[in-house]
Amino acid sequence: MKIGIASDHAGFELKNYLKELLKNEGYQVIDYGPEIKKVVDYPDYAEKVAKGIQNREIKFGILICGTGIGMSIVANKFKGIRAARCCSIYDALLAREHNDANIITLGGRLIGKELSFEITKTFLSTQFTKGRHLGRVNKIKRIEDEENKC
Ligand code: RB5
Repeated sequence: MKIGIASDHAGFELKNYLKELLKNEGYQVIDYGPEIKKVVDYPDYAEKVAKGIQNREIKFGILICGTGIGMSIVANKFKGIRAARCCSIYDALLAREHNDANIITLGGRLIGKELSFEITKTFLSTQFTKGRHLGRVNKIKRIEDEENKC
């Protein structure tokens, strides 16, 4: 499975750590940057990964900033993106099962590396339950379409 990852400076080390471990798990990981640790603006990197999903370059995205909040706010501006900031394995499980989230956002300043890896693995390996949740996700899509008309 092809996935994308990006960060800002606050998530840079965690990005590189997760990238290597996820490659070892068999994921094809596209690194949308930054390539070196420098101060950058998280909206630029959230945009790259969101567009990667929109143009079907990748199936899922991982975005890391200091808290995961900025990345989730930006990613959720893009049509078809359902980004979930996950701080626990349970968050990640339900973000996939109930919300069919396609981007996970993490706080590089909040969660340890090992836990971040477990959270991310849960996110990537959990299926959307559909059932009663499908209608709700379809309502999100309808709202998104209607909001973008004006
Ligand atoms: C950068 O200092 C910090 O504001 C950013 O990483 C992120 O936490 C924003 O939501």
